[in-house]
Formats: sequence, structure tokens, C-alpha cells
Amino acid sequence: MYINLPSKNHYRRPASYASKGYRTRRMAVDFAVPLITNVKVAKLLVEALVRKMPLNVSTVDAKTSHVTHIFPGLVNIAAFVPNLAVPETDDIVEASKAALSAGFTTSLIIPLGYGNQISDHATLDQARTNISDGSAYGNYAFSVAASPVNAKSLDEKDLQAEVRSLFIPFVPGKVVTQVSVVAGHFASWPVDKPIVSNAKGADLASVLLAASLNNRSVHISDVQNKEDLLLIKLSKAKGLKVTCDVSIYALFFTKDQFGIGVTALPTEYDQAFIWQNMDVIDAFTVNGPPFYVSVEQGEKGSPWSGVEESLPLLLTAVADGRLSLKDIQERLHDNPIRIFGLPEQAHTQVEVVVNRSFVYPRRGDYWSPLCGKSIKGAVHRVVVHGQTVFLDGVFVAPPSGKDVSAAIISHTAEKPAIAHPVPSVSISQLSAPSMTTRQMQADAFVGVGATPHGPALLHQTLSHFVSHPAFHRRHILSVKQFTQHDIYDLFSLAHEMRLQVERSGAIDILRGKVLCTLFYEPSTRTSASFEAAMKRCGGDVVSVTAERSSIQKGETLQDTIRTLACYGDAVVLRHPDVGSSQLAAKYSPVPILNAGDGTGEHPTQALLDVYTIRSELGTLNGRTITLLGDLKNGRTVHSLVTLLCLYSVGLNFVSPASLAMPSNVVSAARKAGVHVHECESLEEVLGETDVLYVTRVQKERFADEKEWEQVKDVYRVDHAVLSRAKEDMIVMHPLPRVNGRRALGCILFITLVFV
Ligand code: NCD
Repeated sequence: MYINLPSKNHYRRPASYASKGYRTRRMAVDFAVPLITNVKVAKLLVEALVRKMPLNVSTVDAKTSHVTHIFPGLVNIAAFVPNLAVPETDDIVEASKAALSAGFTTSLIIPLGYGNQISDHATLDQARTNISDGSAYGNYAFSVAASPVNAKSLDEKDLQAEVRSLFIPFVPGKVVTQVSVVAGHFASWPVDKPIVSNAKGADLASVLLAASLNNRSVHISDVQNKEDLLLIKLSKAKGLKVTCDVSIYALFFTKDQFGIGVTALPTEYDQAFIWQNMDVIDAFTVNGPPFYVSVEQGEKGSPWSGVEESLPLLLTAVADGRLSLKDIQERLHDNPIRIFGLPEQAHTQVEVVVNRSFVYPRRGDYWSPLCGKSIKGAVHRVVVHGQTVFLDGVFVAPPSGKDVSAAIISHTAEKPAIAHPVPSVSISQLSAPSMTTRQMQADAFVGVGATPHGPALLHQTLSHFVSHPAFHRRHILSVKQFTQHDIYDLFSLAHEMRLQVERSGAIDILRGKVLCTLFYEPSTRTSASFEAAMKRCGGDVVSVTAERSSIQKGETLQDTIRTLACYGDAVVLRHPDVGSSQLAAKYSPVPILNAGDGTGEHPTQALLDVYTIRSELGTLNGRTITLLGDLKNGRTVHSLVTLLCLYSVGLNFVSPASLAMPSNVVSAARKAGVHVHECESLEEVLGETDVLYVTRVQKERFADEKEWEQVKDVYRVDHAVLSRAKEDMIVMHPLPRVNGRRALGCILFITLVFV
């Protein structure tokens, strides 16, 4: 039994918000745990229990008419976009919107549109232009179509790197792609990237032969008839690395249903064969049939065609006992992720209602065979990275999809169909250092050196992270380089690593890697924490301090960096000059991690500060954060404010006028829509403060020590101050704290932040 009372909700929350209380109550319902949400009922029950009154309550006190099931984010490995590479169309955006509303959080877009295709750089660029940053709802990836003439031009490394797979198209009634052309593509396409084809009949035989001769895998899309499926089945039995998908429409509709002119669906006979051989089918897709069936009947097709119908159709089959929920998960998540080496999306899930009957409504202005028909099952909620983005037919969050075309791939298609999910990317493959130059070492620092010995979960998390565009192969110079999503991903990984280190003390993911720390300014926490982190991850550290190095002899920063880059895989730099890390990055073939550049920035400290606030308070949103002290010279607060602007926070800057926050930081925060209040008195804002972030008055930045004397003790955080603060306010300090034995020493709850 679970007793949980909903809060009074004094303020309005966005529809997408699901409190912890709500989620636990929801869990109780989903897992059929008796739940009381009314205080009077709870009291009556407790009283009855205490007085041992007879409780004549039936063992069944409520029944729900449907079951909720949670899938991980689903993947459509064949998303059809009619105007894919046509200028000035929003078809890809619409396709990504349709996908997300249907529970597909990732879509691999077939490079064939309706009369257009992606077959070179120009058409790929056009497709990319059609879905500019920030307009995609779900994640998406592009592929490139093979043609009789482009095998050579596709051999350009950058084009291959920018797409997910090669698609060898066979369009019925059009020029046959000759065996030699197929063979040419198989020979030149990189082995770690999938090859997909919609080949049928004799063409299918030649594709399978080419795959076999080249000893590589191939995925066959939109299988429609008995002969083809039989061939694939036999090939699998012979150990050929072949996988296949069927369009969901092909499972539920036949050409016989729609009459002459409809070619995009199987016959009833072929469809029956597909159902009988479901074990051969690795994946379900939306694919082209919904669109083509529409246009073949003279109806309107759209990028939405057949997408939203996918889960209702499959869930109806579950209700009818023809499929299981596991069958769906394997074919819309586990196998697609494995075959295409896609990154798993953290905290992403699709809640569906199973068994509840609906009459499928007319949606949009396009044709759907389901319109007005009764189906059983629907998408209730789609959660991406922990945030509800779609709820009961309504988008409740702005688009946040990303292009995942270039993420690292591990193609392990040889696994038989309906296998248990395996981590999508093997760490050992990811870490394979094929580096010939130091620049490549720079590129490879994040995530390399991982070994398959560590805990599986962490490796899985790491493997998803390892190709993260914001961190992989990046210098970390300023927090401005991160989006909120990047930070979310980083924190998910940090959380995982923290648990692992707590459990086993160390994780062996950076064995063989060397970090150089180069400090021109004093440091305790930053230097020691980088060193400790490196060692706990199994790596080594070379530390250089300015006073004991050739810097004393007049060596330039550039030369010192060039030298250290020869010894280490990354360099942590602290330097008194603003912009020094940027300068170092210019000369460094390995990543530079800015550990403080004068009064500029301190990105890693700020990341840790945000992580800490999140851990302590659950969320940053809705919180008021007061920054106190030397806001002019304190680099940690400059970085922190930039990061905080990614959240819905209120900011107070409290400092003497001479140590006020730089105007560019203040105006950037205001521009980001954050309410900023500047004042000199802590008392003015103490009562509303959730996080009090205290900084040291930076003596070393004052030209005249007398000026420092005047302001050094302006603020004091002591017991008296805390007694006037909110009960659950937290106090943070990047340290070192000075003049503080009697001040901070009596703080009730202080989070000391060690970077
Ligand atoms: C700070 C720094 O050096 O920027 N400390 C830190 O790195 N954690 C703060 C300070 O020196 O006052």
C-alpha cells in the first residue's frame, strides 16, 4: 500500500512537469499497488488499523481498464520524407515532429524522397538546410544513396563520415543497378558503416552475394514478399550477416484491400508468410508504403503518413495476441540500435496505453486507412532526457532533436534476429587509437583508453557519451561552448561515474593516458581534483608548476604547451591572463582544459557548481541564486552565471560597487531572459535566496593593497546571517575561504566544492 498526498499546487506548473510525487503515485497505479491520495481516507485507514476495526474491503477495490507500458525511446530506421532534398520545404521538420508524437525519438531518414534523393554533398547539404538547428523534434540521421556513378565520389572520407549509412536503392521499373555497381559500392564503402538496400527478387540475390563476397553485413529494408523473406531466412541460416525490416503497413494492410494501382503493399498471401516468419524480421519501420499507398490511390500523402499509426497498429496486434510488447521493443529499439550502432538516449522513454480502445481520429489533411477505425493502444507520453516532450497528443516542450548522422558506429549485424539487446558500441572499438599525429590524439582524448574490464553499465553510458559532439575531441575553454543538453548528458555520465567510484574506488577507463597539469597560479583543489580524477580513472598525471619549470627561464606559454602536448593526452592549464587558454589551444595538438584564466573563466568549477546545486536541490529551475563577494575578479562566478542562464533561475549579484559583476556578464544574463538584481546588501535578498554562493575577495587582482583592505571583510556569512535565511538555503564556496575561521566555520550546512 502506498499513501501519498498530492501537494496543494499553489503555483501553476507546466503541463509537462511531473513531480516526484506524481511519478511515484503513477508507479503505484502502473504496478497495481493500492494507493491512497486523500488525507481523510488515509486517516480513516490508519485509525481503523490502530483500533483493529474490521475492514470489510474486497481484495479488489479498483480496476483500471488499460495497462500502461513503458518502452525506451523508439527508433524508426526507415523514415520516409517526400521532399527530402528539395529546397524550401519543411518536410524533414514535419517528419521529425510526426516521429516524436509517435514515440520515435530517433529516425534514420531514407535518402530517397519522392522524386529526389541524397546522393552527394550538395543534396546532403540541401537536406541539412531543410532542418536547421533547433527545429528538429526528435533525433535524426541522414544516409546517402548509391548510384551507378557515385561509388567514387562517395569515397570521400568526409561525406562518408557525415552520414549514417549507404543505401543501395532499387526502384521498380527504373534502371537496374547492375551487379558491378553493387559490387563497387560494397568494395569502397567503409566496413564500420552499414549498407542498406531495398533490393527485391534477383536484385536482392545480387546484393546478398556482394555482401557475402565482401564478408560484410547488409540490412534489407521493406521486405514485402515470401520469396525475398525466404532468401533472407536461408542466408541467415548459412551465417550471412544480413538483417531485415518490414514496414508496419505491410503487416496490417495488403494491396488486395486497396485494389488495382496499389503496389506498395504485399499480397495477402505474402503478408501471411511474413507473420508466420516473424522471427526472421529484425526491425519494424514506417518506410515508404504509407506515403505511396496514399498517392497510388490519388489521396494526399505527407511526411506524417503512417507514422502516428505505427504504435496503435502494433499495440492492436498485441491486444489480439499476435505480437508481444517484447516483440515491439526488440524491433523498434533493441535491434535497430544494435544494427545501426546508435547511441542509447538516456532517460528517454515512451509511455503507451495498451488495450484501451480508441476510434482513430482524422489527423491533419493526409489520408490514413485507420481514420474512423477502432484500434487498441496509443502513445500517452514521450519523455526525452527526463523531460516530457509530448503528452496526450500535445507537444509540451520546444524541439530539441539532434543530428546523429555522424555518431560513432559499431556494426554488429551478424547477430541473429530477436537477440537480447547488447550495448550499441563496444568500448574497445571506440578506443582503438588509430592516431598518426598528435592532432589526432587531441581529437581522441575524451573517452579513449577505455577497456572492456570496467562495470558494464558505466561502459554503456560512456559508450553513448564517447562520441558526444560537445566533449569528444574538444578543448574545454569556456562554458559558453555548452548547451543545456550537453550539460544534461555530462551530468548523467558524472552521476554514473560517481556511483562507480563510490562502489569500487577506481574505474579503469583511462589506463595508459597521461594528463599534464600546468599551473601558473596557486591551486589546491583544482590541481588535486584533476589529478585525483585522472588517477581514479586509471590514468597518470605529470604536474608542472610555473615556479619550478623553464617558465622561470622565460619560456613562452606557446612553447611550454607544445612541449607538454608531446608528453600528455591533454593539458590542464591555469594562468593569470584572461584568454590564455584560448591562446594555448591555438598551439596545442591535444585538448586544453581551462582551469582558470585570470579573471576570465573557470568552466570546470562552474560545471561542478551546477551539478552540486542540482544534486542538493533536485533542480535549478525556479531557484534564486545569490552570488556574493568579489564578482568582478572571481572567475568562477563568471562561468557560473553563463551556465545558470540555461535554467529558469533568478540571480542576485551582491558586491561592493567596486567589485560588481562585469557588465558584459550582467547584460548576457538579462539577454538570456534571466531576472538579475544587483545590490550591495546581502540582507536585501537573503530571504528569497535558495543558494548563497560566496566568493573570496581576490587579493592578488588588486593593484593597490589598500583598496583590498577596504573591501576584504565587507561580507561575513555567520550564524546570525543564516538564521535570517531560508531554512533549506545551501551555502557554496569555490574556496579557498579566507578570514573565515569564525565566519563560515559556523555555517549550518555548507557544500564545499572541490575543483
Ligand atoms: C577559485 C579560483 O582559483 O578561481 N578556486 C577554485 O579554483 N576552486 C577561487 C579563488 O581563488 O578564490
